[in-house]
Amino acid sequence: MQLSSPVLAVALYSAAFAACTSPGNASQDASDNSAKTSYAMDSHSFSRPEEAVTTHLELDIHVDMVEHRISGTATYDLRRNGGDSVIFDTDGLTIERVTLGDGSEAKFTLGESTFMGRSLNVALPKGMDKVAITYSTAPDAKALQWLSPAQTAEKKFPFLFTQGEAILTRSWIPIQDSPGIRITYNAHVTVPSDLMAVMSATNPQEHSPDGSYSFGMDKPIPSYLIALAVGDLGFKATGKRTGVYAERSVVDTAAWELADMEKMVEAAEALYGPYRWGRYDVIILPPSFPFGGMENPCLTFATPTILAGDRSLTSLVAHELAHSWSGNLVTNATWNDFWLNEGFTVYFEHRITEELYGKDYNDMTSLLGYQDLLENIAQIDTSAHPEDSALLVDLAGRNPDDGMTDVPYEKGYGLLRLIESKVGRPKFDAFLRGYFDHFAFQSITTDTFKDYIRKNLLEPEQVQVDLANWIDKPGIPADFIIPVSDKFNLVDAQLANWNNGAAAKELATSDWGTFQWMHFLRHLPKGQTEKRMDDLDATFHFTASGNSEILAAWLEQCVKNDHEKAYGKLDEFLTTVGRRKFLTPLYHELMATDKGKAIARKIYGHARPNYHSVSVRTMDEMLLWVPERPVAF
Ligand code: BES
Ligand code: ZN
Repeated sequence: MQLSSPVLAVALYSAAFAACTSPGNASQDASDNSAKTSYAMDSHSFSRPEEAVTTHLELDIHVDMVEHRISGTATYDLRRNGGDSVIFDTDGLTIERVTLGDGSEAKFTLGESTFMGRSLNVALPKGMDKVAITYSTAPDAKALQWLSPAQTAEKKFPFLFTQGEAILTRSWIPIQDSPGIRITYNAHVTVPSDLMAVMSATNPQEHSPDGSYSFGMDKPIPSYLIALAVGDLGFKATGKRTGVYAERSVVDTAAWELADMEKMVEAAEALYGPYRWGRYDVIILPPSFPFGGMENPCLTFATPTILAGDRSLTSLVAHELAHSWSGNLVTNATWNDFWLNEGFTVYFEHRITEELYGKDYNDMTSLLGYQDLLENIAQIDTSAHPEDSALLVDLAGRNPDDGMTDVPYEKGYGLLRLIESKVGRPKFDAFLRGYFDHFAFQSITTDTFKDYIRKNLLEPEQVQVDLANWIDKPGIPADFIIPVSDKFNLVDAQLANWNNGAAAKELATSDWGTFQWMHFLRHLPKGQTEKRMDDLDATFHFTASGNSEILAAWLEQCVKNDHEKAYGKLDEFLTTVGRRKFLTPLYHELMATDKGKAIARKIYGHARPNYHSVSVRTMDEMLLWVPERPVAF
C-alpha cells in the first residue's frame, strides 16, 4: 500500500529541536502528525489509526523489582478521524480500568489472544480525545528481562531492561504498537531508591535520592523505540553530547572502549545532516541482552560483548547511531519494510567507519557482511519461506522477527552500494541528505521510497537500476557488487599455508586484527585434527580470547571439529552471553550431530533461564525444546 498523501512530503520538525536535553517537557506539538489520515496497512497491529490515533503518551509507572511487575497508567492524547472507538495492542497485560478525559469510566473489551497479543478496544463518546489506561504487566512479559544480582557484573543489585522491537512494547505498555504511528511521550517512573532508571528520552546522569525519575521525548517516535533500563548505573561522558551508562564497575572500561562516539556523531552529521535528538548516549547492559545493539533514541542499548579491550568492535555503535537518521527519523511503516531501516543503516554505518577508520577496515567489514548474507540466503532457500530473501517481505500472520535475517541488512546495503556506484558518491550523498530531510519524523513504505528515488535520483540522472528485481525477487541479484578486501586476500594466503600443513607459528599473522581473525576462523576447513586444533589454540590463545567475535568464531570451529577441550568454555559462553547472533550458530552447529545435540540440550537446560524471551523463542524452536509445564493435579 502506498502513502501518497501530499502532507507526507512536508518535513514536520525543525532540525534544531533537541529531544533529549531538557527533562519532562515533551508536549503534543501542533505539527505532530495531526494532518495525517492515511496509514500503511500494518498486519502486526490491531490498531486502526485511520479511526483514532494516539499522538502523545503520559506514562506514570512503578517498577517492582521483587515481583517483576510494572504497573501504572498510560494516558493518551488522541486524534479522532472517525469511528467510535480507539484500539490498542496489549500482550499479557492486566487492564485494571480505563477512564476518559472527563474522568468517567470507559467501556472496554479485550480481543482474542493471538501471537500478536490481544486488542484493547475502548469505546469513545463523541468529542472525547483522551484516555487513561491503568494496567500491570505479566511476570513473563516478552519485552522485559528481569535479572537477578547474580546475572549482573556487580552481583549486588537486580537489573531490568526492555526490548521493544519489533512488537514487544505492547507487553509492557498498552499502545498502538505499529511503526507507522508516532507519538511523543513523557514518563514518570519510580524504582527502588538504590537504583537508577534511564529511557529513550532525556536522561538523568545521577541517581535521584528517592528513586523517582522523569523523562521526556518531544519528537514523535514509533512505539518500538520506547525503552527503559533500571539498575545500579553510573555515567561517564565521552564528549560534550555523548557518554556511557553502565553498571558502576563497567563505566570506565566502556568509556575507554567507546572513546570515538563524539567523532562518530560528527562524521554522521557531516554526511547526512544534523543529529536531531540532543544527546547521544550508550548504555552497556548485562550480557544477556539479546542483540548487539538497539537504537533506542538518545540512548542506544548495547551488549557488553563489544567491549573487546582494543576498540575493534565499536562499529556497532556507528550502526546504532546511524539509526538516528535511518530508522528513528525515517522509519519503516511496517515490518515488511524493515530493510528501509536496516539496509540504509548498514550503508550509513560503513560510511561513518570509513571516515574514522579508512577503506581497508570497511572492505573487511563489508566482506564479512557479504559472507553472512550468503550463508543466510542458503538457509532461507531451504526453509519454509524461500521468498524471504526479497527485500520487501510479506510477514502477515507470522512473527515479524522471522523476517529479521541478514537479508534486509546486507542485501539492502548491496542495493544502496549499487546505486552509489552508478550515480557517484557526491550525488548519492546529496540524495540521501534530501531523503532524510524530506521524510524526517515520518514512517514510510518501500513504495514511497521507490517513487521518491525514481523521481529524485534515478530519472534525473538517467540511471537504470532494476529496483523491482532487488526489492521483490528472492536471492542475490546478478548486479550485486561483491566486496573485495586486500587484507583478506593476505589472510587467504595464510589459510592456504595452513591447509598445506604449515604449523601455526609459521603463519604470518602479526598485524592481524579482529576482522582478519574472524575471516581466518570462518574459513578453516572442516576436519581439523585434535593436534592441529591444539596447535592453533596454543599459538593464538583463542579459547582464552576476551574478544567475543573471535571467541564465538573459534567455538564454532571447536563444535565442527569436536574439539572437546573447548567445551567447558563453550558452556560458560552460552550460559553467560544471551546475544542471539552468537547463540544461533553455536547451537545450530551442535544440533548437527547426536553427540552435539545432547551437549546442546544439557547446556540449554541451565542457560535458558539467563536468556531474554527473544533468544528463548529462537533457541526453543531450534532445539525443539518443550518447556516444562507445571504438573496439573
Ligand atoms: N534494530 C536492530 C536490532 C533489532 C532487530 C531488534 C530486529 C529487534 C528486531 C539493531 O540496530 C541491529 O541491527 N543490531 C545488530 C548490530 C548491527 C551492528 C548489525 C545486532 O544486534 O547484532
Ligand atoms: Zn540496525
